[in-house]
Amino acid sequence: VVAFFAPKVLAGRKVLITAGPTFEAIDPVRGITNLSSGRMGYAVARAARQAGAAVTLVSGPVDLAVPQGVERVKVRSALDMHAAVMARAAGSDVFVGVAAVADYRVNNAAEHKLKKDTGGIPPIELIENPDILAEVAALKNGPFCVGFAAESRNLEEYAQTKRRKKNIPLIAGNLIQDGFGGDDNRLVLFDDHGSHPLTPAPKSVLARQLVEHIAQLLTGKM
Ligand code: CTP
Ligand code: CA
Repeated sequence: VVAFFAPKVLAGRKVLITAGPTFEAIDPVRGITNLSSGRMGYAVARAARQAGAAVTLVSGPVDLAVPQGVERVKVRSALDMHAAVMARAAGSDVFVGVAAVADYRVNNAAEHKLKKDTGGIPPIELIENPDILAEVAALKNGPFCVGFAAESRNLEEYAQTKRRKKNIPLIAGNLIQDGFGGDDNRLVLFDDHGSHPLTPAPKSVLARQLVEHIAQLLTGKM
């Protein structure tokens, strides 16, 4: 109801979002993943859609319903997510990286199920995944890029360092003890103007505030 009457601050914009964890295979039945629930990313997708945007949500493996009116592209690994994003990034106005992308994948993933009685303890060799957000941010005439930083400590320092390193105008920081897995979160937005702490709230409410902030930066009202 709220969204129906809210101004469509992203009308006519194309918004690309990543959400959820990635899954990096070790063998056909095992892998490395993380505890990202996907809820924050899905809430951002819903809020952007309700703000009038055409939204594509590139989602890692989560069991969440597709928000109404949102196009969802399901992926599993970071490399899949990278490919799905890079195919769409140049045509987008806004990119929001909410996914907890695995920093590393298994370089020697086994084609067949590993057996305990052959070969001893398997050596799992890791290789770095591409940084999707940093790559999108480096595109010429690319979308307005927004990152997320989930930290366990030193939120402001780590989030601001990430924002500068990835060369993005806006990053939303949260402490994992405040947000991971739950319905509520506590976000601090960091941009060129400084830090903007949002009141702790359900992810749906925070997502709408983030969308509002993005729209203001996009139209140069801040
Ligand atoms: N991200 C990404 N691709 C990656 C890693 C991260 O797109 N391979 C994005 C995330 O979606 C998020 C932002 O980058 O928007 C920050 O992710 P985070 O894991 O907090 O930062 P890292 O740069 O990976 O640093 P670290 O894990 O060491 O804190
Ligand atoms: Ca990381």
